[in-house]
Amino acid sequence: MAEMTYLQKIDAAAQAVERACGRAEIAVVLGSGLGDYADALENAKYIDYHDIPYFPVSTVPGHKGRWHTGTLHGKRVCMMQGRFHAYEGYDLNDVTLPVRVMQKLGVKTFVVTNAAGGVNLAFNAGDLMLITDFINLSGKNPLTGPNLDAFGPRFPDMSRAMDRDLIKQTLATAAKLGIPLQQGVYAWLNGPTFETPAEIRMTRTLGADAVGMSTVPEIIVARHGGMRVLGVSCITNMAAGVVDQPLNHEEVMEMGNRVKDTFRKLLDGVIETM
Ligand code: HPA
Repeated sequence: MAEMTYLQKIDAAAQAVERACGRAEIAVVLGSGLGDYADALENAKYIDYHDIPYFPVSTVPGHKGRWHTGTLHGKRVCMMQGRFHAYEGYDLNDVTLPVRVMQKLGVKTFVVTNAAGGVNLAFNAGDLMLITDFINLSGKNPLTGPNLDAFGPRFPDMSRAMDRDLIKQTLATAAKLGIPLQQGVYAWLNGPTFETPAEIRMTRTLGADAVGMSTVPEIIVARHGGMRVLGVSCITNMAAGVVDQPLNHEEVMEMGNRVKDTFRKLLDGVIETM
């Protein structure tokens, strides 16, 4: 059989997800340690990534690999338990295939979460940070290649990548619930190495408040598709060189785990306002 085109892969994956779980208006990508939040969905159905044609399978501990759709605060919400990263060796078309599937399934609001290293010296490990903007330091862009005209324009605007109304709603929700919330710029570096102290000083000079290895490709594709985007990072650790101490993934997961109940409360409060 001839090689499937990317559009055919999107269609095949979207059909499998729709058959198993139905459509949705809001999508949430659950980052490291946040996967449990999928329990909050009522009347939920799920499909494992390995049963979705052309879907990659996540290889990172703490990322489960299941798509859930159900009802939350009266809205149809899908949640991805586990995401894909460029450092796993996936092409950015594969990393962002789920976002294209969401667009096919009717998603208009895209909520993305992640674990990130704190660059801003006023932050502390365990803080939550509302993403107000991003810097793409990966040298890659998921929209490289022929434009998918059916999904969005060749040259998408990124001047308001993060939705201003959702930012306001999230700040108001955090204030109402008494949840401290930092705000800042997320810089995407490829990984899988944690950064060097010199790279972290560079990102600080460039205006970053946090660094991580995900999220930006998904935001770019969601914006290409005209979705409203909200992003929240869990600052699981201060980035390299801030404290004189090596970094490891166990520490990232442990802090994610400690903060997840607060993270969940914040997300839940915001989704209620959507
Ligand atoms: N750097 C990059 N990605 C991360 C970090 C970090 O320090 N912590 C969690 N994800």
